[in-house]
Amino acid sequence: YSADDTSTLWTDMAVRYVCYKGINFPPGYNSEQSLRFAETQFRVRDDDVFNVTYPKSGTVWMTEILSLIRSRGDPAWNRAVLNSERSPWFSTQLGLDAAQTCPSPRLLTCHLPLQLFPKAFFSSRAKVVYTVRDPRDVVVSYYHFSKMCSSYQDPESFAQFLEDFLRGDVPHGSWFEHVRAWRQLKGKDNVFFISYEELQQDLQGSVRRLCQFLGQELEDADISSVVENTSFQAMRENDKCNSTLLPRNIMDQERGTFLRKGVCGDWKNHFTVAQSEHFAMIYRERMRGLNGAFPWEWA
Ligand code: A3P
Repeated sequence: YSADDTSTLWTDMAVRYVCYKGINFPPGYNSEQSLRFAETQFRVRDDDVFNVTYPKSGTVWMTEILSLIRSRGDPAWNRAVLNSERSPWFSTQLGLDAAQTCPSPRLLTCHLPLQLFPKAFFSSRAKVVYTVRDPRDVVVSYYHFSKMCSSYQDPESFAQFLEDFLRGDVPHGSWFEHVRAWRQLKGKDNVFFISYEELQQDLQGSVRRLCQFLGQELEDADISSVVENTSFQAMRENDKCNSTLLPRNIMDQERGTFLRKGVCGDWKNHFTVAQSEHFAMIYRERMRGLNGAFPWEWA
Protein backbone atom coordinates (compact mmCIF):
# COMPACT_ATOMS: atom_id res chain seq x y z
CA TYR A 1 0.00 0.00 0.00
CA SER A 2 1.06 3.56 -0.56
CA ALA A 3 0.70 5.97 2.36
CA ASP A 4 -2.62 7.12 0.89
CA ASP A 5 -4.02 3.61 0.52
CA THR A 6 -3.09 2.82 4.11
CA SER A 7 -4.84 5.89 5.35
CA THR A 8 -8.04 4.91 3.54
CA LEU A 9 -7.70 1.44 4.97
CA TRP A 10 -7.31 2.79 8.50
CA THR A 11 -10.22 5.18 8.35
CA ASP A 12 -12.50 2.63 6.68
CA MET A 13 -11.95 0.00 9.31
CA ALA A 14 -13.75 0.22 12.60
CA VAL A 15 -11.10 0.97 15.23
CA ARG A 16 -10.86 -1.69 17.94
CA TYR A 17 -9.29 -0.51 21.14
CA VAL A 18 -6.71 -2.50 23.06
CA CYS A 19 -8.15 -3.35 26.45
CA TYR A 20 -5.68 -3.74 29.32
CA LYS A 21 -6.96 -4.35 32.86
CA GLY A 22 -10.32 -2.87 32.00
CA ILE A 23 -9.00 0.31 30.36
CA ASN A 24 -9.17 0.94 26.61
CA PHE A 25 -6.14 2.23 24.73
CA PRO A 26 -5.85 3.28 21.09
CA PRO A 27 -4.41 0.51 18.92
CA GLY A 28 -1.49 1.07 16.59
CA TYR A 29 1.03 2.08 19.20
CA ASN A 30 -0.33 0.35 22.29
CA SER A 31 -0.56 -3.38 22.81
CA GLU A 32 -1.46 -5.46 25.82
CA GLN A 33 2.16 -6.56 25.89
CA SER A 34 3.62 -3.05 25.83
CA LEU A 35 1.27 -1.92 28.58
CA ARG A 36 2.07 -4.95 30.75
CA PHE A 37 5.78 -4.38 30.23
CA ALA A 38 5.44 -0.73 31.22
CA GLU A 39 3.55 -1.64 34.35
CA THR A 40 5.56 -4.57 35.60
CA GLN A 41 8.99 -4.58 34.00
CA PHE A 42 9.94 -1.09 32.94
CA ARG A 43 13.17 -0.11 34.67
CA VAL A 44 12.84 3.27 36.25
CA ARG A 45 16.00 5.30 36.82
CA ASP A 46 16.28 7.61 39.83
CA ASP A 47 16.88 10.61 37.60
CA ASP A 48 13.86 9.99 35.33
CA VAL A 49 11.27 12.74 35.01
CA PHE A 50 7.81 11.55 33.93
CA ASN A 51 5.35 13.85 32.17
CA VAL A 52 1.97 12.34 33.08
CA THR A 53 -1.46 13.53 31.94
CA TYR A 54 -4.93 12.46 31.01
CA PRO A 55 -5.13 13.05 27.21
CA LYS A 56 -5.67 16.60 25.97
CA SER A 57 -4.53 18.22 29.19
CA GLY A 58 -1.36 19.85 27.86
CA THR A 59 0.95 16.85 27.44
CA VAL A 60 2.81 18.14 24.42
CA TRP A 61 3.04 21.60 25.97
CA MET A 62 4.66 20.13 29.09
CA THR A 63 7.10 18.12 26.95
CA GLU A 64 8.25 21.38 25.35
CA ILE A 65 8.56 23.10 28.74
CA LEU A 66 10.50 20.22 30.32
CA SER A 67 12.81 19.87 27.29
CA LEU A 68 13.57 23.59 27.31
CA ILE A 69 14.22 23.64 31.05
CA ARG A 70 16.61 20.76 30.53
CA SER A 71 18.46 22.69 27.81
CA ARG A 72 18.48 25.85 29.94
CA GLY A 73 16.27 27.77 27.53
CA ASP A 74 18.30 26.94 24.42
CA PRO A 75 15.68 26.02 21.77
CA ALA A 76 18.11 24.03 19.59
CA TRP A 77 17.10 20.60 20.96
CA ASN A 78 13.36 21.33 20.68
CA ARG A 79 13.78 22.51 17.11
CA ALA A 80 16.00 19.68 15.93
CA VAL A 81 14.56 16.57 17.58
CA LEU A 82 10.99 15.25 17.52
CA ASN A 83 9.15 15.55 20.83
CA SER A 84 8.52 11.79 20.91
CA GLU A 85 12.29 11.24 20.87
CA ARG A 86 13.03 13.90 23.47
CA SER A 87 10.43 12.43 25.82
CA PRO A 88 9.53 8.90 24.67
CA TRP A 89 6.10 7.33 25.17
CA PHE A 90 7.61 4.39 27.03
CA SER A 91 4.37 2.41 27.40
CA THR A 92 3.88 2.10 23.65
CA GLN A 93 5.54 -0.38 21.31
CA LEU A 94 7.40 2.33 19.41
CA GLY A 95 8.29 4.40 22.44
CA LEU A 96 9.79 1.63 24.52
CA ASP A 97 12.87 1.29 22.37
CA ALA A 98 13.45 5.03 22.39
CA ALA A 99 13.02 5.09 26.17
CA GLN A 100 15.38 2.23 26.84
CA THR A 101 18.14 3.61 24.67
CA CYS A 102 17.72 7.15 25.92
CA PRO A 103 20.72 8.42 27.87
CA SER A 104 20.09 9.62 31.43
CA PRO A 105 18.59 11.82 32.63
CA ARG A 106 15.46 10.88 30.71
CA LEU A 107 12.19 12.65 30.10
CA LEU A 108 9.32 10.19 29.63
CA THR A 109 5.69 10.72 28.70
CA CYS A 110 2.48 8.75 29.28
CA HIS A 111 -1.25 8.94 29.89
CA LEU A 112 -1.25 5.94 32.21
CA PRO A 113 -3.71 5.82 35.08
CA LEU A 114 -1.95 5.45 38.42
CA GLN A 115 -2.78 1.76 38.80
CA LEU A 116 -0.97 0.93 35.52
CA PHE A 117 2.05 3.18 36.09
CA PRO A 118 5.44 1.39 36.38
CA LYS A 119 5.58 -0.38 39.73
CA ALA A 120 9.28 0.42 39.96
CA PHE A 121 8.53 4.12 40.24
CA PHE A 122 7.16 3.72 43.75
CA SER A 123 10.47 2.59 45.16
CA SER A 124 12.55 5.07 43.16
CA ARG A 125 13.53 8.70 43.45
CA ALA A 126 12.23 9.48 39.95
CA LYS A 127 9.91 12.46 39.58
CA VAL A 128 6.44 12.91 38.12
CA VAL A 129 4.96 16.12 36.76
CA TYR A 130 1.18 15.65 36.52
CA THR A 131 -0.74 18.23 34.47
CA VAL A 132 -4.50 18.48 34.91
CA ARG A 133 -7.00 20.52 32.83
CA ASP A 134 -10.62 21.58 33.17
CA PRO A 135 -12.41 18.39 32.09
CA ARG A 136 -14.90 20.38 30.03
CA ASP A 137 -12.06 21.69 27.86
CA VAL A 138 -10.53 18.22 27.86
CA VAL A 139 -13.66 16.64 26.42
CA VAL A 140 -13.94 19.29 23.69
CA SER A 141 -10.28 18.92 22.75
CA TYR A 142 -10.58 15.11 22.89
CA TYR A 143 -13.61 15.18 20.59
CA HIS A 144 -11.76 17.14 17.92
CA PHE A 145 -8.63 15.05 18.34
CA SER A 146 -10.57 11.78 17.96
CA LYS A 147 -11.79 12.94 14.58
CA MET A 148 -8.31 13.50 13.20
CA CYS A 149 -6.46 10.63 14.83
CA SER A 150 -6.99 7.37 13.01
CA SER A 151 -6.42 5.12 16.01
CA TYR A 152 -9.49 6.60 17.71
CA GLN A 153 -13.06 5.74 16.87
CA ASP A 154 -14.69 8.52 14.92
CA PRO A 155 -17.12 10.19 17.34
CA GLU A 156 -20.74 9.98 16.26
CA SER A 157 -21.55 13.44 17.58
CA PHE A 158 -20.32 15.75 20.30
CA ALA A 159 -23.34 14.87 22.46
CA GLN A 160 -22.52 11.16 22.23
CA PHE A 161 -18.82 11.71 22.90
CA LEU A 162 -19.66 13.79 25.96
CA GLU A 163 -21.83 10.99 27.34
CA ASP A 164 -19.07 8.43 26.72
CA PHE A 165 -16.57 10.72 28.45
CA LEU A 166 -18.79 11.18 31.50
CA ARG A 167 -19.22 7.40 31.74
CA GLY A 168 -15.47 6.91 31.40
CA ASP A 169 -16.03 4.97 28.20
CA VAL A 170 -13.21 6.59 26.19
CA PRO A 171 -9.57 5.58 25.63
CA HIS A 172 -7.40 5.91 28.75
CA GLY A 173 -10.47 5.48 30.93
CA SER A 174 -12.34 7.86 33.14
CA TRP A 175 -10.99 11.39 33.61
CA PHE A 176 -12.44 11.42 37.12
CA GLU A 177 -10.66 8.24 38.16
CA HIS A 178 -7.39 9.26 36.51
CA VAL A 179 -7.29 12.61 38.29
CA ARG A 180 -8.58 11.36 41.65
CA ALA A 181 -6.02 8.55 41.81
CA TRP A 182 -3.02 10.67 40.83
CA ARG A 183 -4.14 13.40 43.18
CA GLN A 184 -3.71 11.01 46.10
CA LEU A 185 0.03 11.46 45.63
CA LYS A 186 -0.18 15.17 46.33
CA GLY A 187 2.27 16.09 49.04
CA LYS A 188 4.92 13.58 47.97
CA ASP A 189 8.14 15.40 47.29
CA ASN A 190 8.74 13.63 43.97
CA VAL A 191 5.32 14.43 42.48
CA PHE A 192 4.39 17.88 41.18
CA PHE A 193 0.86 18.93 40.27
CA ILE A 194 0.15 21.73 37.89
CA SER A 195 -2.82 22.72 35.76
CA TYR A 196 -3.19 23.80 32.15
CA GLU A 197 -4.99 26.85 33.55
CA GLU A 198 -1.96 27.84 35.70
CA LEU A 199 0.30 27.47 32.67
CA GLN A 200 -2.03 29.79 30.75
CA GLN A 201 -2.29 32.30 33.53
CA ASP A 202 1.33 32.50 34.57
CA LEU A 203 3.73 30.56 32.39
CA GLN A 204 6.79 32.31 33.78
CA GLY A 205 5.84 31.57 37.40
CA SER A 206 4.94 27.97 36.46
CA VAL A 207 8.34 27.48 34.81
CA ARG A 208 10.06 28.84 37.93
CA ARG A 209 8.16 26.44 40.16
CA LEU A 210 8.97 23.56 37.82
CA CYS A 211 12.66 24.46 37.91
CA GLN A 212 12.57 24.43 41.68
CA PHE A 213 10.89 21.03 41.74
CA LEU A 214 13.41 19.65 39.25
CA GLY A 215 16.34 21.14 41.13
CA GLN A 216 17.46 23.10 38.08
CA GLU A 217 18.54 26.66 38.61
CA LEU A 218 18.01 28.81 35.54
CA GLU A 219 18.97 32.42 34.92
CA ASP A 220 16.14 34.89 34.29
CA ALA A 221 17.05 35.11 30.60
CA ASP A 222 16.87 31.30 30.29
CA ILE A 223 13.45 31.26 31.92
CA SER A 224 12.26 33.94 29.49
CA SER A 225 13.49 31.82 26.63
CA VAL A 226 11.57 28.79 27.94
CA VAL A 227 8.43 30.95 28.08
CA GLU A 228 8.92 32.41 24.59
CA ASN A 229 9.59 29.07 22.98
CA THR A 230 6.60 27.35 24.57
CA SER A 231 3.99 29.91 23.54
CA PHE A 232 1.14 28.49 21.49
CA GLN A 233 2.40 30.39 18.45
CA ALA A 234 6.02 29.24 18.81
CA MET A 235 4.88 25.64 19.19
CA ARG A 236 2.59 25.90 16.16
CA GLU A 237 5.62 26.97 14.12
CA ASN A 238 7.82 24.11 15.32
CA ASP A 239 7.21 20.96 13.30
CA LYS A 240 9.06 18.91 15.93
CA CYS A 241 6.07 19.36 18.23
CA ASN A 242 3.07 20.46 16.16
CA SER A 243 2.36 16.92 14.87
CA THR A 244 2.45 17.88 11.20
CA LEU A 245 5.29 15.41 10.59
CA LEU A 246 3.11 12.47 11.59
CA PRO A 247 2.01 10.37 8.62
CA ARG A 248 -1.54 10.84 7.41
CA ASN A 249 -2.48 7.32 8.45
CA ILE A 250 -1.82 8.33 12.06
CA MET A 251 -2.95 11.93 12.13
CA ASP A 252 -5.02 13.36 9.29
CA GLN A 253 -4.20 17.08 9.15
CA GLU A 254 -7.15 17.62 6.83
CA ARG A 255 -9.51 16.58 9.57
CA GLY A 256 -8.23 18.98 12.21
CA THR A 257 -5.23 20.70 13.79
CA PHE A 258 -3.45 19.15 16.74
CA LEU A 259 -2.54 22.53 18.26
CA ARG A 260 -6.15 23.54 17.75
CA LYS A 261 -7.11 26.60 19.82
CA GLY A 262 -4.96 26.55 22.93
CA VAL A 263 -7.37 28.47 25.16
CA CYS A 264 -9.27 28.00 28.41
CA GLY A 265 -13.05 27.83 28.31
CA ASP A 266 -13.66 26.68 24.73
CA TRP A 267 -16.25 24.32 26.24
CA LYS A 268 -18.60 27.30 26.41
CA ASN A 269 -18.74 27.25 22.61
CA HIS A 270 -19.67 23.56 22.54
CA PHE A 271 -21.90 22.76 25.53
CA THR A 272 -25.63 23.44 25.63
CA VAL A 273 -27.00 24.74 28.94
CA ALA A 274 -28.42 21.28 29.67
CA GLN A 275 -25.06 19.60 28.94
CA SER A 276 -23.27 22.04 31.17
CA GLU A 277 -25.69 21.41 34.07
CA HIS A 278 -25.47 17.67 33.60
CA PHE A 279 -21.68 17.82 33.56
CA ALA A 280 -21.61 19.92 36.74
CA MET A 281 -23.86 17.44 38.51
CA ILE A 282 -21.70 14.45 37.61
CA TYR A 283 -18.53 16.38 38.41
CA ARG A 284 -19.74 17.26 41.91
CA GLU A 285 -20.68 13.68 42.55
CA ARG A 286 -17.45 12.16 41.23
CA MET A 287 -15.07 14.76 42.65
CA ARG A 288 -16.59 14.89 46.10
CA GLY A 289 -14.09 16.11 48.65
CA LEU A 290 -12.04 17.87 45.98
CA ASN A 291 -14.13 21.01 45.66
CA GLY A 292 -11.91 24.02 45.27
CA ALA A 293 -8.88 21.84 44.59
CA PHE A 294 -8.62 22.96 40.97
CA PRO A 295 -8.55 26.40 39.35
CA TRP A 296 -11.63 26.08 37.12
CA GLU A 297 -14.94 27.50 38.13
CA TRP A 298 -18.42 26.07 38.15
CA ALA A 299 -21.31 28.32 37.25
P1 A3P B 1 -7.08 22.43 22.31
O1 A3P B 1 -7.59 21.28 21.52
O2 A3P B 1 -8.11 22.90 23.31
O3 A3P B 1 -6.55 23.54 21.49
P2 A3P B 1 -2.30 17.15 24.67
O4 A3P B 1 -0.92 17.57 24.31
O5 A3P B 1 -2.44 16.63 26.06
O6 A3P B 1 -2.89 16.26 23.63
O7 A3P B 1 -3.19 18.48 24.71
C1 A3P B 1 -3.48 19.20 23.54
C2 A3P B 1 -4.14 20.50 23.94
O8 A3P B 1 -3.17 21.39 24.52
C3 A3P B 1 -4.73 21.22 22.74
O9 A3P B 1 -5.88 21.92 23.23
C4 A3P B 1 -3.57 22.14 22.38
O10 A3P B 1 -3.93 23.23 21.57
C5 A3P B 1 -3.15 22.60 23.77
N1 A3P B 1 -1.80 23.20 23.78
C6 A3P B 1 -0.63 22.64 23.38
N2 A3P B 1 0.38 23.52 23.49
C7 A3P B 1 -0.15 24.66 23.96
C8 A3P B 1 0.39 25.96 24.29
N3 A3P B 1 1.67 26.25 24.13
N4 A3P B 1 -0.47 26.89 24.78
C9 A3P B 1 -1.77 26.61 24.95
N5 A3P B 1 -2.34 25.42 24.65
C10 A3P B 1 -1.54 24.46 24.16
